[in-house]
Amino acid sequence: MDILVIGAGGREHAICWSLAKSPKAGTIYCAPGNAGIGEVAELVPIQVNEFDKLAAFAVEKQVGLVVVGPDDPLADGIVDVFEAKQIPVFGPRKNAAHIEGSKTFMKDLLKKYNIPTAAYEKFDNYEQALAYLQSRPVPIVIKADGLAAGKGVTVAYTRDEAETALKSIMIDKVFGDSGSQVVIEEFLEGQEMSILSFVDGETVRPMAAAQDHKQVYDGDKGPNTGGMGTYSPLPHIADSIIEEAIESIIKPTAKAMVAEGRPFRGVLFAGLMIAPDGKPKTIEFNARFGDPETQVVLPRLKSDLLDIFLAAVNGTLDQAEIEWSDEAAVCVVLASGGYPASYPKGLPIRGLDEAGAAGALVFHAGTARGKGGELVTNGGRVLGVVGLGKTIAEARDKAYEAAGSIAFEGKHQRTDIAAKALV
Ligand code: AMP
Ligand code: GLY
Repeated sequence: MDILVIGAGGREHAICWSLAKSPKAGTIYCAPGNAGIGEVAELVPIQVNEFDKLAAFAVEKQVGLVVVGPDDPLADGIVDVFEAKQIPVFGPRKNAAHIEGSKTFMKDLLKKYNIPTAAYEKFDNYEQALAYLQSRPVPIVIKADGLAAGKGVTVAYTRDEAETALKSIMIDKVFGDSGSQVVIEEFLEGQEMSILSFVDGETVRPMAAAQDHKQVYDGDKGPNTGGMGTYSPLPHIADSIIEEAIESIIKPTAKAMVAEGRPFRGVLFAGLMIAPDGKPKTIEFNARFGDPETQVVLPRLKSDLLDIFLAAVNGTLDQAEIEWSDEAAVCVVLASGGYPASYPKGLPIRGLDEAGAAGALVFHAGTARGKGGELVTNGGRVLGVVGLGKTIAEARDKAYEAAGSIAFEGKHQRTDIAAKALV
């Protein structure tokens, strides 16, 4: 069966790499993809927001399955476009992707169904939002309602920071219409954890749990990024806490979406905070695979990813075989100097063969081929280097050894990925 994967990041490289292991997979197309994806898939020069062109391509090639990676096209209804043309597609429809596309929708849903999350208020009026903010203690969290490329959330430790964030969202409109509403919510203390699940209606099949490192510098310092590194499993978090998160948050949310007439089919990604007393609460839901969570989760999948996608599409996800290996995986992201602010592109990358020889998997995010066919940087997050091993320590050593052999000008990586799991 031929497959079309939509997206261009490390997540999509991991998805294509995992699909390519399926004996049922024929040609894998990826639109638009990147240089690394080009080694496992045929690249298609169509952008993720060109729905009609993508659908025409899928019809022309008679692909048996489409898999959508990124949030923006999902929120804009790409799945509905494929479904209207009877093309099998793995991903949530627009009305279900709304759980990521609107934080006010997500918070109201959780409140209505009594699903644990931070206490909050929502506002579409700046003066009222400001008055509320001034009545609350800090730290406090301010969130633009809509998608904001991962930058719409401010955890404010001072009143000044809080008021500046509110003003930039609601008055300066730095995120455009995404900021016409805001959520102001209680600050949650604790450890973060991501649980991604394959979901079809009320059927929830959780993947292995992972932890991301959002800030750009060691010690969780500096601005938030798309994610600087991940690891899985989480040896320092009890299975009972993961189980509680699945039973008290993820399954009830899938059920709530069905009850609201928005059945979710795809990957439901729960961002959770585990309080010091061990109780998990919801920070956010995403309607897709995480990046770079996928890079550590899929290498631990022992079952056939294509079979799982097809089961979800055919309504038999409850019967799908989904097994995880006991191996640990650690992903270290190599970023361009300057990221998440501005950064140069087109810089030559060296040392990938050495990284492969060190036994690591290298998933490409922002890479391209230069004029002479050489590999060059082409984005903020450039590569995700994944080490696998019996323990987190072993996987981590492997990832860092391989990361060290890769060079490009300005390369930046965190040196403390998975450190929390070692103590
Ligand atoms: P989000 O885009 O909603 O995942 O938020 C980005 C990051 O902000 C999260 O990964 C957390 O680190 C942090 N964050 C969001 N909401 C809260 C909260 N209520 N309390 C503490 N930290 C939060
Ligand atoms: N790594 C966080 C995300 O994909 O949203």
